[in-house]
Amino acid sequence: MVPFFSRFFSRGLSDATRPTIKLSETLPAQGNSEAYIEDADLFSFPGKADGVTVTNTVSGLMGLRGNATPWPAVGKEQRTTYGGVSGNAIRPIAMRAVSAIGNAIPGFPILATGGIDSADAGLQFLHAGATLLQVCSAVQNQDLTVIDDYIMGLKALLYFQTLPHMEDWNGQSPPVIKQQKGKPIIDIEGIVHKKLPNFGAFLSQKQAIISELKAHQDLLSDSLVYKRAISEPQTSVPRVKDVIGKALDYIGSFSRLDTAQQMVALIDEDTCINCGKCYMACNDSGYQAITFDPVTHFPKVTDECTGCTLCASVCPIIDCIRMVARQTPYEPKRGLPPSTPIQQAKREPMPAQ
Ligand SMILES: Cc1cc2nc3c(=O)[nH]c(=O)nc-3n(C[C@H](O)[C@H](O)[C@H](O)COP(=O)(O)O)c2cc1C
Ligand code: SF4
Ligand code: SF4
Repeated sequence: MVPFFSRFFSRGLSDATRPTIKLSETLPAQGNSEAYIEDADLFSFPGKADGVTVTNTVSGLMGLRGNATPWPAVGKEQRTTYGGVSGNAIRPIAMRAVSAIGNAIPGFPILATGGIDSADAGLQFLHAGATLLQVCSAVQNQDLTVIDDYIMGLKALLYFQTLPHMEDWNGQSPPVIKQQKGKPIIDIEGIVHKKLPNFGAFLSQKQAIISELKAHQDLLSDSLVYKRAISEPQTSVPRVKDVIGKALDYIGSFSRLDTAQQMVALIDEDTCINCGKCYMACNDSGYQAITFDPVTHFPKVTDECTGCTLCASVCPIIDCIRMVARQTPYEPKRGLPPSTPIQQAKREPMPAQ
């Protein structure tokens, strides 16, 4: 990994025989990768430039105070202008642009910049096709030592790829273990043949069952001993150049997505805390596909689910809502059919006043 600051990079370029093009400076439509590729005729860049910086900052308006004056503002007139937004707010835009160019011109050197604030973010950019990484806001937020952290973190992430028992990890995060309030889930359903929620009389009943189980548990049992897997690398550690563009085959246009592979939400009642956020989100902003049991407060996903993932996005419990393959055919419902009386009534001319 070679971290750069823009100004160092720019200075380096003055010695180069060919320019490196910073697209966000050459194009008004910053952050729009189609514009980068089409308007800038990027395909003609190889041979004319040694690489491209994607994206630099993205144009934005920072904010307005309660009295309508902007911040930041200049002079007694309090005028402002559009300025460059940086940091992790722009990372999705930068990732989009890097991957679009990575797919359009395989192997063309891309200096990725925009929201790299960890080794994980750096690896994401490498996977998206970046050849170099530039870190600015994160250094400004702390100091230059973050670069050492990111290099060490990237080495660790590459090393993890050699360990088969870490296949399920997401970067440095281990897989989520099913839990309630930090404690492993006990199979209550296997005993009382129904799920019990975690409040009121249900909770007391649950606690009584767990106490009874623990009273008869063999505390010296092997099953209670945590066995740590031995970290034996099974392959050689990949080098940075081995992982550049690794994600590009996964990324492309909507038309390449298989719309036949529909998904639906599946709620895990063991980890659900009965908060109702999924119900509210699906009801008010989704497809009214969740019912909420008035007694147990367990949410249930109905066949109306479109697989939009809104409920999974708002659920406060990690992995409590997972998206799984739909088992029934999906018939999109687009509101009232045109032949209903309401629609017909709307099409009839207004009676004369
Ligand atoms: C305070 C500040 C000053 C910057 N100065 C320059 C500059 O002189 N030349 C340049 O090419 N980019 C400049 N940038 C843009 C950064 O090099 C970088 O491309 C952009 O901030 C996105 O990366 P980041 O999210 O890591 O900050 C500046 C950014 C900030 C926040
Ligand atoms: S995935 Fe969307 S439609 Fe399905 S239950 Fe969740 S919010 Fe509702
Ligand atoms: S948002 Fe999650 S925790 Fe809350 S009720 Fe829905 S599934 Fe349960």
